[in-house]
Amino acid sequence: MSMSTPSAAWRLLVPERVLALALVASFPVFAGSAETATSTPEDRPFPPSYVTIEGHRQLTPEDWKDPRLCGQCHTTQYEGWNGSMHSNSFTDPVYQALFALAVKADPSNINHCGTCHTPIGVTTGTLEFHPDKGLHGSFTAPPVAAMGVSCDVCHTISGTNVQKTAVLEHGNASFVVDPGQTKRATLDDAKSPFHETAYSEHHGKADFCGNCHQIFHPGNNFPIERTYDEWKYSIYAQNDIQCQDCHMVPVEIANRVADELKLPEALDEPSLEGFAALGGPWRKVVHTHAFIGGNAVITELLGNPAEDSDKAQDLGRSGNAAEAIKRLQSVASLKVDVTPEGGALHRVKVKVTNERAGHHLPTSLTEVRQVWLEVVVSDDQGRELLRSGTLTEENRLPPDTVIFNNHAVDKDGKDTLLPWEVARFTEMNTIPPKGYRYGKYFFNLPPDATEVKVSAKLHYRSFDQSVADLLLGEGAVRVPSVEMVAFEESIPVAALSAPKTAQLATDQ
Ligand code: HEC
Ligand code: HEC
Ligand code: HEC
Ligand code: HEC
Ligand code: HEC
Repeated sequence: MSMSTPSAAWRLLVPERVLALALVASFPVFAGSAETATSTPEDRPFPPSYVTIEGHRQLTPEDWKDPRLCGQCHTTQYEGWNGSMHSNSFTDPVYQALFALAVKADPSNINHCGTCHTPIGVTTGTLEFHPDKGLHGSFTAPPVAAMGVSCDVCHTISGTNVQKTAVLEHGNASFVVDPGQTKRATLDDAKSPFHETAYSEHHGKADFCGNCHQIFHPGNNFPIERTYDEWKYSIYAQNDIQCQDCHMVPVEIANRVADELKLPEALDEPSLEGFAALGGPWRKVVHTHAFIGGNAVITELLGNPAEDSDKAQDLGRSGNAAEAIKRLQSVASLKVDVTPEGGALHRVKVKVTNERAGHHLPTSLTEVRQVWLEVVVSDDQGRELLRSGTLTEENRLPPDTVIFNNHAVDKDGKDTLLPWEVARFTEMNTIPPKGYRYGKYFFNLPPDATEVKVSAKLHYRSFDQSVADLLLGEGAVRVPSVEMVAFEESIPVAALSAPKTAQLATDQ
C-alpha cells in the first residue's frame, strides 16, 4: 500500500536547491558516434533535449505547416487531432503552470520541457517566457508552434537520435525533424497532389512514440516517465503490438487487440477501413488521430484555452472525453475475496488486474496520476464495518487509501512531485501490463450479522486536488474522477470464503 501526502510534497520555494542542471552544458554525451566524445552544437543544438534538425538548418515558423491546411484533405485525421492532448500539449494550462515553475527553477528546462510539448517553438527559437503573466508565469509562441504536437511535427520526423542519448534509449525528444515537402508515414504507395510522401518504418513502431513518451532526468538520468520502457518489456511488445495498435484505433478495437493479442489488421474489422485522404484510394486500415489516453476529461473541464487565439474551433474535445472515459472503463478488472481471519476479524482482499493497458496502470506521470480503490463493507442491518478511499468534501483522498502510483523523492530523500527534483522512487506500486496488485483491508463482523455487503470501486483522476490548486489556483478547478470498474455483492456470512469476480466494464 502506498500513501501520498501531496500537499506536503509540493515544495515550492526551493532557494537552497542545488542547480544540478547547471552542469548540463558540460554534460558528456555517451557517444554512439565513434569520432566524438563530447557534444557539439550540431549533435545537440537544443540541450539538454536530443532533438536535431536534418541538415543542421536554421528553422523559422514558416518552415512548418498549419494543421488546418492538412485538414482540408485529411479531414478525419484533423478532427481526431483537434482537441486531442497532442493539439493541446502547449496550451494545456496545467502544463504551462508546471513549465513556468520548471523554468524559474532552472532556465535549461525551456528546452527540456519545451521540445516534447512544442517542438516547433523550440526548434525555431520562438518560445517566449512571461514570468509575470498568470499565476506562475506563462509562455507564448507563434500560432503554428502553439498548436503543440501537430501533423507536421510527427509527419516530418525523419529518424531517431536514440544512439546519442545518455541512456542509449529513446526519450527526451530523441527525434530528427526535417520539415518540408516530404510527409512520412507507413503507406508505401501514397501519392499526393500537395506534397511528396515517403515510407517510414519508424512511424509504425513504438520507438517513434518513445522519443517523447519516455523521460529521464537530464541531470541524474533517472527515468521519471517510462511508458515506452514499460511497454518494451510487456507481453504486447513480445507479440509485436505497438502503441499505434491501441492508440490509433477505436477503443473497442484496442480492447480486442489487448484480449486477443492480435494486430488490428488481423481482426478483419470493417470499422478500420476508409480514405486516408480526399482523392486517395479506399484503404483496409486508416488510423485514428485523437490519441486517447485518460486525460481528455481534464481538457474538457478546462475548456478551450485557445478560443481567443488564431486556432480554429476545437471539434474533437467532447467526443475525445467520452472515448477517454470508455478507455478508462475498459482497462481493469476487480476480484474480491472476503475471508474469516479468526474471531470477529475478517479480511477483504481486492485484486486489481491491468487487463488492457500496454504499459503500467497508471503510466507516465506515475507520481501524479491517481488510480485508487474505494472499498465499503456493511452488513444486513446497514451497519458500516469498513470504509476506505472515499473522497472527502475537499476532494482529497483519505490517508489510508490504497493508491497505485509511484512515490518520488529528491536527492535528499524528501517527497517531491516536481519532475526536475525527482532523484528516485521510494515506492513503486503501479500495475504492470496483464499483472495485478492487491488492496487488503480488515474489519470486525458483528456476531448477529447474517450478510456482508461489499462494494469495491477503482477510480482514476489525472491529479490530486492539491496539485490543481497549486497549478491552476486555489479552488479554480474541482478535479473530476472517473469510476473505472465497480464490484458489488451481498455475501451470506455462511459463504464468506468464495472469491467473487467483477466483469470488465465493456463486456456487457
Ligand atoms: C491537397 C490535398 C492534401 C493536402 C492539403 C495534404 N495532403 Fe497529405 N496526402 C494527400 C493524399 C491524396 C495522400 C495519399 C493518400 C493515400 O494514398 O491513401 C496523402 C498522404 C499523406 C501521408 C501518408 C504518407 C505515407 O507515405 O504514408 C501523410 C503522412 C500526409 N499525407 C500528411 C500530410 C500533412 C502533414 C499535410 C499538411 C502539411 C498534408 N498531408 C496535406 C493529400 C493531401
Ligand atoms: C503524434 C504523432 C502524430 C500526429 C500529431 C499526427 N499523426 Fe498522422 N500518423 C501518425 C502515425 C504514427 C501514423 C502511422 C500509423 C501506423 O501505420 O501504425 C500516421 C498516419 C497518418 C496518415 C496515413 C494514413 C494512415 O492512417 O496510416 C495520414 C494521411 C496522416 N497520418 C495524416 C495526419 C494529419 C493530417 C495530422 C494532423 C491533423 C496527423 N496525421 C497528425 C502520427 C501522427
Ligand atoms: C520526452 C518528452 C517530454 C519532456 C522532456 C517533458 N514532457 Fe511533459 N509530457 C510528455 C508526455 C508524453 C506527456 C503525457 C503523458 C500522459 O498524459 O500520460 C506529458 C505530460 C505532462 C503534464 C501533464 C499535463 C496534464 O494535463 O495532465 C505536465 C504538467 C507536463 N508534462 C509538464 C512537463 C514539464 C514541466 C517538463 C519539464 C520539466 C516536461 N513536461 C518535460 C512529454 C514530455
Ligand atoms: C513530439 C513528441 C510526441 C510524439 C512523437 C508522440 N507524443 Fe503523445 N504526447 C506528447 C505530449 C507532449 C503529450 C501530452 C500533452 C499534455 O498532456 O499536455 C502527449 C499525449 C499523448 C496521449 C494522451 C495522454 C492522456 O493522458 O490522455 C497519448 C495517448 C499519446 N500521447 C500517445 C502517443 C502515441 C501512441 C504516439 C506514437 C504514435 C505518440 N503519442 C507520439 C508528445 C508526443
Ligand atoms: C494493449 C493496448 C495498449 C498499448 C499497446 C499501449 N497502450 Fe497506452 N493506454 C492503453 C489504455 C487502455 C490506457 C488507459 C489506461 C491508462 O491510463 O493507463 C492507456 C493510456 C495511455 C496514456 C495515458 C496515461 C495517463 O493516464 O496519463 C498514454 C500517454 C499512453 N497510453 C501512451 C502509450 C504509448 C506511448 C504506448 C507505446 C509505448 C502505449 N500507450 C501502448 C492501452 C495501450
